[in-house]
Amino acid sequence: MSKVTVSIVGASGYTGGELLRLLLLHPDVEVKQVTSERFAGKPVSRTHPNLRKRTALKFSKLEELTECDTLFLCLPHGKSSTQLDRFTSLSDKIVDLSADFRLNDPAQYKEWYGGDHPAPEKMTEFVYGIPELHREEMKEAKWISSAGCNATTTILGLYPLFKAGVVDRERTVVEVKVGSSEGGNSFNEASHHPERSSCVRSFMPTRHRHTAEMIQELSFGEPAEIHFSATSIDMVRGVLATSHVFLNDSLEEKDIWKIYRSAYGDEPFIRIVKEAQGIYRMPEPKLLWGTNYCDVGFQKDPCSNRLVVVSAIDNLMKGAAGQAVQAFNLMYGFDETAALEFPGLHPV
Ligand SMILES: NC(=O)c1ccc[n+]([C@@H]2O[C@H](COP(=O)([O-])OP(=O)(O)OC[C@H]3O[C@@H](n4cnc5c(N)ncnc54)[C@H](OP(=O)(O)O)[C@@H]3O)[C@@H](O)[C@H]2O)c1
Repeated sequence: MSKVTVSIVGASGYTGGELLRLLLLHPDVEVKQVTSERFAGKPVSRTHPNLRKRTALKFSKLEELTECDTLFLCLPHGKSSTQLDRFTSLSDKIVDLSADFRLNDPAQYKEWYGGDHPAPEKMTEFVYGIPELHREEMKEAKWISSAGCNATTTILGLYPLFKAGVVDRERTVVEVKVGSSEGGNSFNEASHHPERSSCVRSFMPTRHRHTAEMIQELSFGEPAEIHFSATSIDMVRGVLATSHVFLNDSLEEKDIWKIYRSAYGDEPFIRIVKEAQGIYRMPEPKLLWGTNYCDVGFQKDPCSNRLVVVSAIDNLMKGAAGQAVQAFNLMYGFDETAALEFPGLHPV
């Protein structure tokens, strides 16, 4: 069978680089073109030194893009939705890693992103990109919008509980700790090393845009109130979400186990991490670097009906490129884990 041809738009960035690393390992894929305006004509190793001797590909300009089977879009916010017609004329299938098509309601988009959506009629045509929630739709999809990294971490931690209807929908408090690669490879004052190094910076105590995705995906017909805050910490990759939910009924930990097992027992990339002993008793982002896993753990407060859910991912993998490849595998009926088998490193 001939290989599926793919091109990556915005391939000089962090998510584009991870996608390229994964897709070069994919047995059924040929990477045709990778774009960068700044580095056009230069070998991809110029921005992704880990890919030395793995490919002879050079960056092309966006205007040089030709047709392919699937386009992966790794552009900054607002750049996919304003050029969608051009991209759809080049490729039937699209996986967009930006936030442009994650929400399906134009009014919510306006509320959280502060302006009208450039292509509101297209918003519902994209399948929201968390495979564990939308696997069947992805098998039929032509366009997929990959989920936000903080949203993915939080939603995967909470989804089984909200689906089972066992939590107070009006009282969920989530705090994420995030690494610097979330901000992409362009720099600014806040990312300057003396400012960013050693930081524990509450950069978005309220109104983080990913909250809108969480509400959309966790509502199940009744609005879910998610109170979300984000803090930068001194780490390059990784997201750790600590979610505080309040149980409606007097459930014990063994009941919670059952809920998670029934939601995630067959999931290839979700692991319940809740050990009684050892150092790594709860999810820990550094063990997930380079992997497509989301680790989820929980502990019930013995003094109240609060349940603390801890979930972790690598933002560039399960939060971006890994999730996108998992969705792509589903679109084409490939093994869902193809190119995503890396188990991570220990020690790191
Ligand atoms: N970083 C994460 O953890 C993460 C996770 C999930 C989703 N995302 C989303 O994924 C997208 C890419 O993120 P990233 O972290 O990879 O960003 P990044 O490192 O800043 O890379 C952005 C890419 O877009 C290209 N680009 C920028 N402006 C362009 C323009 N006007 N026209 C054409 N190409 C342009 C850049 O190429 P040049 O070389 O030409 O500048 C670069 O290849 C963003 O929408 C982000 O929100 C990021």
